[in-house]
Formats: sequence, structure tokens, C-alpha cells
Amino acid sequence: MRYAACDMRRATGKSRLGSLRYERRAACIACEACLHLAGVCACFRRMNTSAKPARLFPQHVIAAKRDSQKLTREEIDAFVRGATDGSWADYQLSAMLMAICIRGMDTDETAALTGAMMHSGVIADLSGVRLPKADKHSTGGVGDKVSIHLAPMVAACGVAVPMMSGRGLGHTGGTLDKLEAIPGFRVGLTLPEYRAQMERLGIALIGQTGELAPADKKLYSLRDVTGTVESIPLITGSILSKKLAEGIDSLVLDVKFGAGAFMKDKARARELATTMVGACRRLGKPARALLTAMEQPLGRAVGNALEIAECIGCLRGRGPEDLMEVTYALGSHMLVLAGVGQTLPTARIRLENAIASGAALAKFRELVVAQGGDPRVLDDPEAFLPQARLKSAVVVSDNDEGGCVAGVDAMEIALAALRLGAGRARAEDKIDHAVGISHLAKVGESIPPGGTLAVIHANDEAALADARARVAGAITFSRIPVTPPAIVDEVIG
Ligand code: URA
Repeated sequence: MRYAACDMRRATGKSRLGSLRYERRAACIACEACLHLAGVCACFRRMNTSAKPARLFPQHVIAAKRDSQKLTREEIDAFVRGATDGSWADYQLSAMLMAICIRGMDTDETAALTGAMMHSGVIADLSGVRLPKADKHSTGGVGDKVSIHLAPMVAACGVAVPMMSGRGLGHTGGTLDKLEAIPGFRVGLTLPEYRAQMERLGIALIGQTGELAPADKKLYSLRDVTGTVESIPLITGSILSKKLAEGIDSLVLDVKFGAGAFMKDKARARELATTMVGACRRLGKPARALLTAMEQPLGRAVGNALEIAECIGCLRGRGPEDLMEVTYALGSHMLVLAGVGQTLPTARIRLENAIASGAALAKFRELVVAQGGDPRVLDDPEAFLPQARLKSAVVVSDNDEGGCVAGVDAMEIALAALRLGAGRARAEDKIDHAVGISHLAKVGESIPPGGTLAVIHANDEAALADARARVAGAITFSRIPVTPPAIVDEVIG
């Protein structure tokens, strides 16, 4: 109500003070009445329910955070509104981001930031979907393709999955890039199309629409160039505002740590997970976070079409062990939080049955058809997914030692994939869906002499040679047996 009333006044109100910037700076942040003479607007005093008077001008809000003060909800709303409607200049937004990055935010502030960012645009109305609506978000890692097979597995168990994802920001493609490896697959559904598909199928895997959480688009672009990406409250607001605007009832988070993760350090990953779960709960959404290890790539494939083929293998019951371990763990928590499946073990059995019965694969087929993709990919991935021109195995003799695999450096594998063209070095780069790495060795495996460590898929000879060298150098061996590490380290919430 408060927003609606204020927005109407803002739309019709006009300043007598000349330039736009001056008008905005000298206006009440709630109703935009001119404050030039009055100082504080009566309307704003009425609406500001916090004990402390809110600071009115961007520079005052920035200075308060600079001096480690706790911001009120109204001040945080003003900052987010300033990012959305352009009433704060980029230099003010950037200064505020840096102040938050250095001084931090407590739980109240982080929840207020998330709520304000979530309400900066449309909240998808999925009230027409009768099933509980659950989603999963991963902070991302090398070979992380879990969403693609997890979503149909969960949907086949009677939980609607309205999943909006991003493109790859790092060395490998994101979920959308992977899905676009399926010929014809359309990730750019409009909000009405998304809603209709959710009501009909109970599943959608699409890109973020511009109407949802527009404040994040502005703030993320500034964070990217101002050294303020690594702030836990800002990451929390960014991720959750988009997820909660999808119209979900509950959320499971996969927070990764290790060499191939966004957060290298486990303690920081735990802090992020705890903050995100806390913010979700404050906003009335049940949430849980799994801390999962990302030292080696997840599964055996890295590269867009190769990962789609691996996901189809998962849905056919032939998924790599580590990939299925994290998939079942996330899926079980999604079912339990959604109220389908009372315990984690029974939820896992439901998911296993969805694979064994073919229901999960059938759900994925429905999704692919609904979004314009070629369903023949599901029956014969090699024939219908893009294929690279050159394929070359990296074998044990490429290394000076063989034996038991002790480590597969996820970041080196990611860089090899990037060199092949599977990811983007810059946002405007085009991805080659066909290239990447498959048949990747896993920690704990014994590879006999001449055995395969990986297969490189390339469309360029020089890139193939570079990727071969990187992959060979990424894999280390031990003469004594190595136990594969547990992948799910901790559950928070
Ligand atoms: N992903 C996001 O969407 N936002 C962040 O801030 C970090 C990762």
C-alpha cells in the first residue's frame, strides 16, 4: 500500500526547482514532495515507523553506513529505489555499495535489502499453480549442471519447480547456456508464458525476465566494476531477490566451497549460507542450505552440450556418483521443505523411483517440447546435440605418473573449457556449445597405464593443444589409495 500510494504521487508530481537531479535530491524519498524549504516532509515522518529518524539524502545514508551505523528499512528502501528509478547517481550507488561491502549489514538490514530488491519489480503470480512451488539455487561451480535433471526429478514427484537461472558469469556456461545447446530450446519466455507453462506442466527452466528484481541488474553491473562483488549482504540480496520474485514457496540453496567455487573458503561459504537462510526466513520463505565441496568438477563432463548429455544420462539412471549424490541431497530437501515426503530418506526413495519409472525423463521431455527444443536429443544425444570437429583423449602416458587419482583441479579444468570456447571471458563472448571435456577421471579412481583421463572436444587445433596440456596438468596421482571426499559437508537451516 505504502509503495502504491507513493508511486502514484511520484508519477504525477513535478518539481518547481528545475533540473531533474536537483528535484530528486531535494525531494522526500517517500512521496517526493519538495523538501527544499520544509526540510522534512510530514508524510515521511508519518510513514517512517522506526524509532530513529531516517536520513533523507543519499549522502546521509552513505555516510551512516560508512560510519558503521545500522540503516533503517526506509533508508534501505530509498537506496534500492534510487537504483531502480535512477534517482541516485551511479557514484552514489557505488559509494553505498562500497560502504556496505566494508562495514557489512546485520540480519535485519540484509533482510530489508533483500525485500526491497525483490519488490523493486514484479513478483510472479503463480497462484494458479496448485502444487507447492520449490526452487534450488546454486552459487555455481565447474560442471554444475544439477538444475537440469533435478528440476524434472522434483517436478515428477509432485512439486512445481519454477526455475529462473542466469548465464555463466565465469569460465563455463550457466544453466541457460547449457539448455540452449538443445536445438530450438527457448529460455526467453515472457512472464505470461512462464505462468501458463507452470500451470500446465509444473516446471519451467527460463532466464530472468527484466520485470523481476530490476534493482539487482543495476547494482550487479556496478558491483562488477567497483570491487564490491564479494560482500555477503550484497550477494544475499542479489541472489534471493531474483529467486523470491519467481513466486516460490520454499528454497534450497547449494553453497559451494573450494577451488572451483565462487567462495573458495568454507567459513565464508558457511557465513553466506547462514545469512541467506536467515534472510529467507525473515521474508517468510522456508529455506535450507547445503554446503557442498567443489575441489574437483562435478560429474565427468564440462561444456554445454556434453553436460546436457550427462544430465540425460542421470535421468536414465546412469549419472556419475558425485553428481547424483548432490542431486539426491538437494532434491530430498526440496521435497521435505515443500511438504512432499516426510523424511529425507523417504524423499530420496521418491526421487529414485521417479528415475527408475521413467517419470523424471518424461517430465524433462515435456519441458523440452514446451520450450521448443528437439526432444530427439533425449533419445540419442550424440546424434542431435552439437558435436565438436576434433576429439582427443588425454591418457595416463601424457603425465609422468599414473596410479590413483588424488586431485582434479576444478579451476584448471574450467580454464581449459574456457580456452576451448565453452564459457565467456567477457559478457559479449559467444559460446561454442559443442566443445568441452568429457570422460573426466574422478578422485579415488585407479587409472591403468594407457587409461583415459579425459576426452577433449574442440573445434580449433591450437585450443585443443592448450586444453590437453591444462587437463593433463590438472590431474595429480597418488601411489596409495585415495578416498573420494564427501560432497555434502553440512546442512544449514
Ligand atoms: N550470483 C548472483 O546472482 N549475484 C551475486 O551477487 C553473486 C552471484
